[in-house]
Amino acid sequence: MSKIIVTGGAGFIGSNFIHYWLEKHQEDEIFNVDKLTYAGNLENLKEVESNPKLHFIKADINDKSSIDHLIKSQKINKIVHFAAETHVDRSILDPSVFVTTNVLGTQTMLELARTNNIEHFHHISTDEVFGSIEKNEDWKFNEKTPYNPRSPYSASKAASDMFVKSYHTTFGLPVTITNCSNNYGPRLFPEKLISLAITNLLEGKKVPVYGAGDQSRDWLYVSDHASAIDAVISKGKVGETYCVGGMDSEITNLEVVQKICQLLGKDPEQNIEFVKDRPGHDFKYVIDWSKIKNFDQGLKKTVDWYVANTGWWKKIKSGEYTEYYTKQYQNR
Ligand code: NAD
Ligand code: TYD
Repeated sequence: MSKIIVTGGAGFIGSNFIHYWLEKHQEDEIFNVDKLTYAGNLENLKEVESNPKLHFIKADINDKSSIDHLIKSQKINKIVHFAAETHVDRSILDPSVFVTTNVLGTQTMLELARTNNIEHFHHISTDEVFGSIEKNEDWKFNEKTPYNPRSPYSASKAASDMFVKSYHTTFGLPVTITNCSNNYGPRLFPEKLISLAITNLLEGKKVPVYGAGDQSRDWLYVSDHASAIDAVISKGKVGETYCVGGMDSEITNLEVVQKICQLLGKDPEQNIEFVKDRPGHDFKYVIDWSKIKNFDQGLKKTVDWYVANTGWWKKIKSGEYTEYYTKQYQNR
């Protein structure tokens, strides 16, 4: 039986991971430590909120004394660390909180793990730390690819990964890291491409596509990510990094949006608007991952979830989000 702190469990991947873990490992207890920033939403856990094995602690990962007390009083033995600022466009508008949460917050969690002899610290990272595969280049990221972060978001994640590695090398902290590709699925905050596209189309708005839409991403269905993390925690080698991807061939942003239009019965010609490109836009992420997943099936499940859960995203899109949307998309 494990007692696990999950940081950022009210966010997109963390909440899907908690759903997965409570079902798969019913003997374990989860302590969800989340600050509830704009991206944290306890509605993401409403189906499991009365589960006696799930506890919620509203705290910042930089709040060392509260988390230290939690670890000691509950005899926590594992930490799965998701909490982060996660949106590239927001990191371009204001990078500073990315350093506070992603770099300093991770170092605080590592220090807490070290001083409390935590048995396993798993860190969730991104393939964006590897940089960009340029047009006409044909290679894939793997565990040995040198880091080359290009946005404030990926720079902060790269720094956090380095701290995790250093705590293993220097202090012998039992760590593992996963660097995964872009996740999609239920509860994806509607600022990211797939959820923004689905919800804009459902609202009768156009989908903003940056530049010519010819950049491509590898898309990983969120529950497949949860099971990959599970496999790494149970079978991974301590001190190692694992790349996790979701597709067997690349797909451009424009193709993704066209597929979503098709699933919702919308004409792409009428419903896509090409807007000014993102500064420093990484062209391509492709990850070396042998497992083949069905993107069309995952995308349909995702679209169906947003159609069935309009209350969830309408509440988000009418709040603070409107301010961000105006700032991000005006004059583009
Ligand atoms: P998200 O933005 O949906 O959720 C982040 C969560 O962290 C929120 O619940 C938020 O309240 C919480 N949080 C933020 N700052 C905090 C702080 N200082 N203290 C405590 N809690 C805080 O993020 P996500 O998409 O679920 O991403 C989770 C992790 O996976 C991140 O580390 C991210 O870098 C990584 N990742 C995400 C993707 C993706 O496609 N979404 C891809 C690769 C890696
Ligand atoms: P995003 O979902 O923000 O993830 P990331 O930047 O971490 O890969 O963006 C995915 C791709 O979609 C990226 O190439 C930028 C592009 N994009 C758009 O074209 N329009 C949008 O409105 C958004 C949010 C992203």
